[in-house]
Amino acid sequence: TNRHIYDKLKRPLRDLRLSVTDQCNFRCRYCMPEELFGADYQFLPREKLLTFEELTRITRIFVSLGVEKIRITGGEPLMRRELPELIRMINEVDGVKDIAMTTNGSLLAKHAQALKAAGLRRVTVSLDSLDDKRFGEMNGRGFKASHVLQGIEAASEAGLDVKVNMVVQKGVNDQDVLPMAKYFRERGHILRFIEYMDVGNTNGWRLDQVVPSQEIVRLINAEMPLEPVLPNHYGEVASRYRYQGETGEIGLISSVTQAFCSTCTRMRISAEGQMFGCLFAVEGADLREPLRQGRSDEEIRDRITEFWSVREERYSELRLSNTPGLKKKKVEMSHIGG
Ligand code: GTP
Ligand code: 5AD
Ligand code: SF4
Ligand code: SF4
Repeated sequence: TNRHIYDKLKRPLRDLRLSVTDQCNFRCRYCMPEELFGADYQFLPREKLLTFEELTRITRIFVSLGVEKIRITGGEPLMRRELPELIRMINEVDGVKDIAMTTNGSLLAKHAQALKAAGLRRVTVSLDSLDDKRFGEMNGRGFKASHVLQGIEAASEAGLDVKVNMVVQKGVNDQDVLPMAKYFRERGHILRFIEYMDVGNTNGWRLDQVVPSQEIVRLINAEMPLEPVLPNHYGEVASRYRYQGETGEIGLISSVTQAFCSTCTRMRISAEGQMFGCLFAVEGADLREPLRQGRSDEEIRDRITEFWSVREERYSELRLSNTPGLKKKKVEMSHIGG
């Protein structure tokens, strides 16, 4: 197997998250509010996006540095044409053990079979409410929850492992926590609750809009008793709880109240080919130009190693201490996919 590389805080590089487009057919208020991502918003032109060949080459180089898990993100990754072809290409890279995709689920019913056939193993579908009206407001496009649920079922039927992610915002969708838990408990899908974060520059985040994970555990436990489960692996983002006496479980992603930076092993690549060492990074480092200027794999690998070796970001751990310097312009979530 390949040797790992370590950053300044001794964290190994283990996961690669590839954004394949900055476009999305939703306009979630907390990510791409309509006022800022309107009809005249300039998305990246095609020639600025990494090609499938470039993405595959990057993957091969990262695998040689110890990466085993690949996650495809966006924007909405299914907005990228021929996505199953990219999955197939990445799946052929020797040493890739796991390919997953984060999606809003809206186009999943249409593509689930092809994605599975191409070698995708798992999908994580974002869904913030079962209520069509509330969900339609949250996604900014009036898109129905029932449609996403169909996508989830199609993915499941196609043989993909499905997890569901719900961002919980106080006063917006906290009343949906219990109905969501009940719904996915019955259907046997893992539901994970994400604490609302101050990603990007546009969502006007406030700490009092966060529903702490412990509150969610208390709420669900009162109706459906829970017991904690040990992590699946080092650095797992979600803490897990099982419904007592059952195999079904939920996850809590406590990025605000219990930051997990100390075990953060993730490198993110934006759709235009910039590396980011953190979801909240202010600056990335370009890989696209070196790729296009005919640099060798070794040269690209050195660039990545150098970037990772000076990495010391731990934004979520610093957030609550209000460290100066956190007010700079951050990368947008729609560019690096969460
Ligand atoms: P698996 O364990 O492989 O299923 O994936 P995961 O736990 O990494 O899940 P996923 O990629 O679906 O992440 C879920 C959500 O957790 C993301 O959408 C983010 O909101 C949050 N998240 C994931 N990684 C990070 C991270 O490195 N930092 C922070 N602050 N949040 C993260
Ligand atoms: N806080 C927490 N999660 C977020 N996501 C998008 N914006 C935020 C935010 N501000 C989630 C999406 C999706 C994943 C890509 O990231 O809902 O599940
Ligand atoms: Fe699109 Fe996901 Fe952002 Fe919503 S959170 S606008 S679905 S990329
Ligand atoms: Fe990793 Fe940055 Fe998230 Fe911390 S805030 S877990 S360093 S991506």
